[in-house]
Formats: sequence, C-alpha cells, structure tokens
Amino acid sequence: MTQSQSAPRELVVAVPKGRVLDQLGPRLEAAGLDPAPLYAKGRELIRVDRERGIRYLLLKPDDVPTWVEYGAADLGIVGRDVLLEREYDLYAPVDLGIGRCRMMVCGKPGQPVRGEGGRTLRVATKFMNIAARHFREKGVAVELIYVQGSVELAPLTGLADVIVDLVETGETLRANGLSPLEPICEISSVVVANRASLKLERERIAPLLERLAARG
Ligand code: PRP
Repeated sequence: MTQSQSAPRELVVAVPKGRVLDQLGPRLEAAGLDPAPLYAKGRELIRVDRERGIRYLLLKPDDVPTWVEYGAADLGIVGRDVLLEREYDLYAPVDLGIGRCRMMVCGKPGQPVRGEGGRTLRVATKFMNIAARHFREKGVAVELIYVQGSVELAPLTGLADVIVDLVETGETLRANGLSPLEPICEISSVVVANRASLKLERERIAPLLERLAARG
C-alpha cells in the first residue's frame, strides 16, 4: 500500500479504569463507538476497535490528562477533580455528565470545620490543592496531610480532624460513621483533547465531540 492509500491512523482515547468506565460505555455507544473492547476480559491496557479506528488506553484516572497533554493520546475522559487538582495545558470541550459526585469536607457528625482552642484544623486528603484553595478562600488556617486512600480512617484514628474527599452515594461515609460537613464543588467527567490533535485531526475529532456532547 502506498502512503496515500493507507488507512488513517487510529485515534487514541485515554479512558479511566474504575467506576466511571461502567457509565462511559453507553455514552460511547450513543456516540457511534463500540465500547465492547473496553469490557473484554484480560489484562491488556491497549484495546483496539479496528472498525472505527479507535485505540483505547486504560489508565489510572489521575494519569489520563498526562497522556493527553503530551500527545500520547488525542482524547481522554477524566473527572473534573483531576483537572482542578493540577493544571494541564488541555482543551476540555465536553462535560459528559457522568461520574457525578461532590467534593466535600467530611468528618465526625458535628465536627466544626475550623480550628478550635488555638489549634489549626488538620485536614487529610488526596486533593491537596483543592483543599488548600477551599480553606484559603474561607480564611481557615489548616494543616494538610496527604493520604492516597482510605482517607475516611483519618478522623476515626486521630490523624486529622476532617477530610476532603469525593462523595458519590455517601455509602463510604455512612459505613464509617462520618458525615458530609461542607460542600466544595460538583464534579463530573469531561472529555479532554490534546491541542495539536484538535487542529490536525479536526475532521475526525470535532464530529465525535459533538456526538459525545449530545445527551440522549
Ligand atoms: C472514592 C472516594 C470515597 C468513595 C465515595 O473512593 O475516595 O472513598 O469513593 O463514594 P461513595 O460516596 O459512593 O461511598 P474510590 O472508591 O473511588 O477509591 P479510591 O479511594 O481508590 O479513590
């Protein structure tokens, strides 16, 4: 095959492993894509839909924008929490309205969300920048403690007074005797696009973004 006859390169789409993946399938399908490769059993991190020329990369949610920013993926699906936590040079044209949850300050019921008796409020979180910004805007002095997961344990064990974390169903809070204390912001999943890809592959990407934006 000569260059001019060869098929266009596959579009590379970075998708997050985990909860949002279940909600993503119907949205991809509605946009005319075939999500089946994403749900096929196996440990392969690259899943290809040859018919539609799409190559999916399965990534940790936090890593999706990195792949897209560096152009190793053209598009990505990522929670707004990830984009609020770190700055990326990305275009975020479509809110998918899936993966809906809230970023919240949580703790034991009745726990004040400020330092008491001259003590600084101790806050455990994975979202250091979101938490810092929230408490700075409120004028509350905090000591931030970074933890990667099982953050609900922090108020239960004396590591911190409160946590900043995502709340979806509230089940994890309830199961651990904690309550939402203060909302920070609403979160949902968005499509991010590499800026160069958007220019070079506009003919393929623009209609796809339009179809992804349409909510059935
Ligand atoms: C998130 C979050 C909470 C939980 C909230 O963790 O950190 O722990 O979900 O969801 P719920 O309100 O529906 O109970 P996730 O399960 O995504 O795992 P992670 O700790 O690895 O981020």
